[in-house]
Amino acid sequence: MKKITIAIDGHSSTGKSTLAKQLAKALNYIYVDTGAMYRAVTYFAMQQGFVGEDFLDKEALLNSLSLINLSFKFNENLGFAEMYLDNNNIESAIRSIQVSNLVSKIASISEVRSKLVQQQKQYGVDKGVVMDGRDIGTVVFPNAELKIFMTASAEIRAQRRYLELQQKNENVSFEEVLKNVTERDAIDSSRADSPLIIAENAIVIDNSYLTKEEQFNKIFNLATDLINAD
Ligand code: DC
Repeated sequence: MKKITIAIDGHSSTGKSTLAKQLAKALNYIYVDTGAMYRAVTYFAMQQGFVGEDFLDKEALLNSLSLINLSFKFNENLGFAEMYLDNNNIESAIRSIQVSNLVSKIASISEVRSKLVQQQKQYGVDKGVVMDGRDIGTVVFPNAELKIFMTASAEIRAQRRYLELQQKNENVSFEEVLKNVTERDAIDSSRADSPLIIAENAIVIDNSYLTKEEQFNKIFNLATDLINAD
């Protein structure tokens, strides 16, 4: 059967990865969470003392960039791939609010972006991939057959992320999560390199009032129509 490339971009906490995982599973495609890769570089930079709330040692980070070895390893129990830095599983560490607060700073560095984009393109060489991020339809796979741009109101997104963090016992207020969501939107959308914009031909989905099932069915149908078209 014909394989396509599915690019999912959009604002933070819009459920891009949930949707991407569902689609990959249903289509038997590879799923790649590119946000996890930017988070992993951020985690590395934090560990090395290269970045903090009010500083960034860009030169030191760039000097170590070639040493950063990222990979995804499929976890059979969870049903998706987890992020590894060298041989360490950092899947849970990269989801902390501390990483979330610093990741946009790291993601605005062009050299970091080109290293990760190169690796992402490799994952998609054979198509049959669902990739989510901010620049997938614009930079990584501008020729993707299906491009989705997801959005929702900032308050609804913050509420969803807040509940998620509470379930993980992360001690954080709703206000802090809302601030993180709106600040990341602003930095991601205004950075010079690969800003978050709606890609040409992308289908915009505002899921403020859509259930996960409604959203999945809508996009799954779009994908299967494309796969079955000659
Ligand atoms: O999808 P996420 O929230 O885990 O992504 C974390 C950050 O990484 C996000 O604030 C912006 C950045 N990012 C990016 O710049 N480009 C991507 N393709 C994916 C994520």
